[in-house]
Amino acid sequence: MNPRRILLALVAAAAFAASAAVCVVALAFALYAGVEPYLGRAGASGVVAGTAALFILFLALMLSGAARARPKPKTGKGATAENLVERAMDFIRDKPVVAIAAAIGVGILAVRNPQYFGAAIRAFVEGAAKRGPTMFKLPDLPFAYDALEPVISAETMGFHHDKHHAKYVETLNKLLDEAAQAPTDLEGVVLKTEHAPEKVKLFDNAAQAWNHAFFWTCMSPEPSRPDDELASAIESAFGGTEKLKALFVKEGAGHFGSGWVWLAADGAALKLMTTHDADDALTHAHMTPLLTCDLWEHAYYLDYQNERESFLEAWFDALPNWRFASAQYAAATGNGTSWRHPKPS
Ligand SMILES: [Fe+2]
Repeated sequence: MNPRRILLALVAAAAFAASAAVCVVALAFALYAGVEPYLGRAGASGVVAGTAALFILFLALMLSGAARARPKPKTGKGATAENLVERAMDFIRDKPVVAIAAAIGVGILAVRNPQYFGAAIRAFVEGAAKRGPTMFKLPDLPFAYDALEPVISAETMGFHHDKHHAKYVETLNKLLDEAAQAPTDLEGVVLKTEHAPEKVKLFDNAAQAWNHAFFWTCMSPEPSRPDDELASAIESAFGGTEKLKALFVKEGAGHFGSGWVWLAADGAALKLMTTHDADDALTHAHMTPLLTCDLWEHAYYLDYQNERESFLEAWFDALPNWRFASAQYAAATGNGTSWRHPKPS
């Protein structure tokens, strides 16, 4: 090969290298943004650094190939990295002017329309990362917003479900995405994060998502009564439903700060308990929750202001879904399965 063609091939290879460098910088930004939520800063930096190292190796092969005068490869139909470089070098040596023009064209395209490269990478990464169930949905209310009036107003239900509960679910999904986790059930998330100090935020939002979905199921606008087994257990444990109500209201009204009041079963034995903030009966070993009422101010403040006791009395008189509580009690005593949060999809 004469010196002029070698010079042209080197110029073409350098133009390709410059053009590719522009493309790679655009891709690196998109790649980092795409994988950072799943791999964290260190992981995303590693992916970008690894990609950059491969690119530099490719460029080195390309430039050394352009400078080397050698015969054309005789074969090479397979798409190996080596013969791809050789074919690129053949093209550059044979048609250096066309190669330079193509490189400049690709460079201009990358500079003027980097979003096309970024969008392709993001779509690929997000598609790969979201394979499998990762997103919890906000469950619909099992009744109309105004169905629980006058005990709970439609306005309170609207804020409580559409704003507070929705925010817990949204934050839960965001935290799971950031941690690159794809759990198969919400119960598992709550139990695994319960005692993990570094996962307090994930636990709080997972537990609150679970608690609220359970809470909606615990209420019904249609009056009901405990079935015979549950009624008998209430009689044994508390001396009857009225005494249970008195204790439920007392414990709930006396609970300091935010939390939940629960009627739960440890096997056949019934217990009344309160939990703080997001903590729930699910994390108490052997306990099956039967009913719960939300003690956070957002549950009653619009309707009762600071009168939590009035809210709890009105709630207990009209809203407990005793059919559901009876089914939960049956599950606690070995008949059937207890309620579970809808799976992610
Ligand atoms: Fe709430």
